[in-house]
Amino acid sequence: MSHYTIDPAVSDALAGFSLPDKLGFGVVLAPVMYSVEWADGRWGQGSLLPYGPIQIAPGARALHYGEFIFEGMKAYRAGTPWPNLFRPLDNCRRLALSAERMAMPAVPEALFLEAVDAVAGAMAPFVPTGSGRSLYLRPFLFGTEPGYMLRNSQTFRFMVIANPVESYASGPMKVAIERRDVRAAVGGIGVAKAAANYAASLRASNAALARGYAVALWLDAAEHRYIQELSGMNVFAVIGGALHTPELDGAILPGITRDSVIALARHRGYQVHERPMAIDQLLAQIGSGECSEVFACGTAAIVAPIGALGDADGRDHVPAKVDVVAAELREALLAIQERRAPDPFGWTRDVAPPPADAPWARPAA
Ligand SMILES: Cc1ncc(COP(=O)(O)O)c(C=O)c1O
Repeated sequence: MSHYTIDPAVSDALAGFSLPDKLGFGVVLAPVMYSVEWADGRWGQGSLLPYGPIQIAPGARALHYGEFIFEGMKAYRAGTPWPNLFRPLDNCRRLALSAERMAMPAVPEALFLEAVDAVAGAMAPFVPTGSGRSLYLRPFLFGTEPGYMLRNSQTFRFMVIANPVESYASGPMKVAIERRDVRAAVGGIGVAKAAANYAASLRASNAALARGYAVALWLDAAEHRYIQELSGMNVFAVIGGALHTPELDGAILPGITRDSVIALARHRGYQVHERPMAIDQLLAQIGSGECSEVFACGTAAIVAPIGALGDADGRDHVPAKVDVVAAELREALLAIQERRAPDPFGWTRDVAPPPADAPWARPAA
């Protein structure tokens, strides 16, 4: 028996769903979602529902004060009958850290797993197979209590929605160094996966896109000197054959892929240095050839090559190599995620089978 209720309309929603050939990233919506509410200091009973609009009070603090945090994670089924999740407990822990910073209640581990397992389990037959394809899961928590007083909500809602996705990769990215706007400051909420950080990044993202770049590269708030991360990915450089990545300074999001890349690279014999990385020094090292390659990593793109770093003066700094170490690490990580390779780190975890009383999913053949 499940601890969550299953809306009777879920069976029809699943029966009426089929995977289109072209999935894109975030375009195709899973027909189910999970929802649970927090009130009077505790979590209620969750439910699995057909995907659809929700009601929210127009005065809810999530809308007015940005009381909204989220996670992004993937379930894979390439070559396996039943889907598995990649490091779900790390997403749960990061959501708890985000919640702590934002004065929101933590989602207990059992509830978090119930929610992602409910959605991924119901979607099991529709987790796309084929390397690089997966079910992207988006857990999110937001304050629902209306009111203008500047304190946190007393009511919250935790939900999980999902999207069958294909590989996010679209060749080497050109990134635009953002020298004016600031995304996150030490002591602020950069360490949290809070919607407000993304709001702070959108003006620069638009400007980058308008100039033909894929995404903004952020610098530290105090001196505008040190590399932080991209708007949705962490950054690595290959310098003298070793990997270098900005240290977690209290403003950078502690990426789970970043942590995986560090562990995997060390396991494969690379030296990895986490340190403050000055942008101007990195550009000089790209110019001299000492820095041979730059890449980014995150759940969506896994490991993505960076083809050029565009500066505010219009100059593009182009590393000598593109997608060499990045390709090696992407393939090694994806092979673990897709269970084509042993998982010495214990990163993958089976999605729990649907409850016995669930009328829909059976493991796909
Ligand atoms: C700002 C930011 N940095 C880094 C990452 C990478 O984190 P992860 O590897 O946990 O997906 C993400 C994506 O979630 C992000 O939004």
